[in-house]
Amino acid sequence: MKNPGACLLALLIFGAATWTRAADGGSVALAAELAKQEAIYKSRGEQVPEGYVIDRSLLSYTQALPGEFDHALGRLRPGDRWLDVGAGRGQAILDYYTPKFDMLHFEGRDERGSKAQGVAISIEDRRTADWHEKAALLPPAKIQYLASRRLREYSREELGKFQVITDVVGGFSYTTDLSLFMDKVLALLDLNGGFFTVLADVRTQEGTNQPHYEGSPFLTTIAGVDGSEVKVCAWLKSISCVKVTCETKANWRPPIEAFHVQKICHQVAVPALTSVHFEAGTPPERGFKLAQ
Ligand SMILES: C[S@@+](CC[C@H](N)C(=O)[O-])C[C@H]1O[C@@H](n2cnc3c(N)ncnc32)[C@H](O)[C@@H]1O
Repeated sequence: MKNPGACLLALLIFGAATWTRAADGGSVALAAELAKQEAIYKSRGEQVPEGYVIDRSLLSYTQALPGEFDHALGRLRPGDRWLDVGAGRGQAILDYYTPKFDMLHFEGRDERGSKAQGVAISIEDRRTADWHEKAALLPPAKIQYLASRRLREYSREELGKFQVITDVVGGFSYTTDLSLFMDKVLALLDLNGGFFTVLADVRTQEGTNQPHYEGSPFLTTIAGVDGSEVKVCAWLKSISCVKVTCETKANWRPPIEAFHVQKICHQVAVPALTSVHFEAGTPPERGFKLAQ
């Protein structure tokens, strides 16, 4: 769906459908929140909200994501592929193709050769002159930037398989359909491949933290069928055919939880979630409920 207008319409329809159970006006309110969110994606120049960070470096990725991410990236070889979902300007991918990366990852430098292929996905096209220059210098199709569609709008055949998938405050933090998002990620992940992501301001697996902003809920919540709280880490661990580690990074403001989801067999089944709350933001505030 390349037309952004059609994309927004689809979102509005999708949103209205998921919220038919809401009180009168609920779907209208949701449509307004989705329109606000769309405006954030489309924002340019001074209109880009302060909290909408689109230029994190590879170093920031390494600091935010679980420790294993850095090793996994260092182990990639020229035939391998790295997908960054919600890449913003794609700075992290650009930083990977620098001599500095090899200096910092000396081991395996020769085997790494011309490096893996890097694919960036973003709803809006935020490529810079740096991206175009680097793409022209590298071997053809070594880096790819796909825009105008959400992850769920690509088929597995179109994107192919990846050994490493990252998401730093991208689709995993912004999607209205978290279970479909995970389904898609795991379908694109090669066996033994790793998905590395992060969420800000969530109840961590230890369960001892409180929402960062007084009077506000956690940014992402999941309720069980009986309404009881399900931690995001526990929900990820309930997916079949994956091994999950959750790492709390309490020194971040707001604190973050970093997740490493490793695909260990093919019969992946993601417990379905329905969306029950969405408030636009950077990232949005989202509530989900286990479907059964
Ligand atoms: C806050 S920016 C983060 C950019 C980058 N990861 C960084 O840290 O600098 C959010 C990015 O996620 C993208 N995004 C949000 N939802 C998405 C989805 N469902 N599929 C693909 N990209 C998505 C946006 O288009 C944008 O590129």
